Amino acid sequence: HAADAHRTDLMTITRFVLNEQSKYPESRGDFTILLNHIVLGCKFVCSSVNKAGLAKLIGLAGEINIQASTCSNECFGEEQKKLDVLSNEVFIKALVSSGRTCILVSEEDEDAIIVEPSKRGRYCVVFDPLDGSSNIDCGVSIGTIFGIYMVKDDHEPTLADVLQPGKQMVAAGYCMYGSSCTLVLSTGKGVNGFTLDPSLGEFILTHPDIRIPKKGKIYSVNEGNAKNWDGPTAKYVENCKFPKDGSPSKSLRYIGSMVGDVHRTLLYGGTFMYPADKKSPSGKLRVLYEVFPMSFLMENAGGQAFTGKQRALDLVPTKIHDRSPIFLGSYDDIEEIKALYAAEG
Ligand code: AHG
Ligand code: MN
Ligand code: MN
Ligand code: MN
Repeated sequence: HAADAHRTDLMTITRFVLNEQSKYPESRGDFTILLNHIVLGCKFVCSSVNKAGLAKLIGLAGEINIQASTCSNECFGEEQKKLDVLSNEVFIKALVSSGRTCILVSEEDEDAIIVEPSKRGRYCVVFDPLDGSSNIDCGVSIGTIFGIYMVKDDHEPTLADVLQPGKQMVAAGYCMYGSSCTLVLSTGKGVNGFTLDPSLGEFILTHPDIRIPKKGKIYSVNEGNAKNWDGPTAKYVENCKFPKDGSPSKSLRYIGSMVGDVHRTLLYGGTFMYPADKKSPSGKLRVLYEVFPMSFLMENAGGQAFTGKQRALDLVPTKIHDRSPIFLGSYDDIEEIKALYAAEG
């Protein structure tokens, strides 16, 4: 029976990616190895996030360990690391030790990291180790976002290798640390979701071939910035609340964790926006490791991602921490936003 097969024949993320890659005779398993190291980073962050509420007790997040007050310095007194700094270190070490990367860009590091020659491979990884960090202390979902480029030959890695349009990515994904730990991945042929089974320590395929609904009933934006929005953004949100064609008004959902907001958008449909405003003309979200990976996933799930001017994946970043406005989500809903920007001229 199909149901029995599901319980005994587990499709782990490694098995899934190996199957996918085996269609390419030239594949040497390098991507699978790289992904396994990313997965290790995600499992580590997941277990740290799950303990974050106990931070004061066990000393995880920037506090002096509680033991310090009852115990001399030598035993437990050292400062513990903040979760985003800790996550960053774990990902960098995991990626470098995979032996498959040559250049890394992290939200937490001002400069790109050039991997030492003896550990180099052909992949470039851009990532936000912990996104939504303002939500850590209240236990709301946060995540890790990553995008992967591949260099064509074994030249000395340079910034030019990562300052590539998002459409050149070979894979992108995120891991959400929520009520369960979910990893969503695309290698350019559809989008698949895997959920961590904590008892096995394995990500199991739970959301095969995710397709975003063509049109949605939800919009997601920080409406507190409305007074500084441009015309088309303001008009779109107005249409969500007071539709002119007699359709029902949309619901507003905004977590303030991009991973959570995009995950919901992917599964339920609708739009997620971080638009430009008068105070931040480029919006807030970073092109390489926030806008591109999420846009890559959206397009691969049948949705769209738009900057207010162009297809997001066509952007060519000039600096590794560049920002861009972003509108992404259901195909028809983004068409509506594109029409409003086109009308503006
Ligand atoms: P980070 O925690 O990595 O610095 O990024 C937070 C981002 C993103 O997750 C979210 O969509 C956005 O900030 C929320 O910004 P506002 O608080 O301005 O709405
Ligand atoms: Mn972020
Ligand atoms: Mn971050
Ligand atoms: Mn940050």
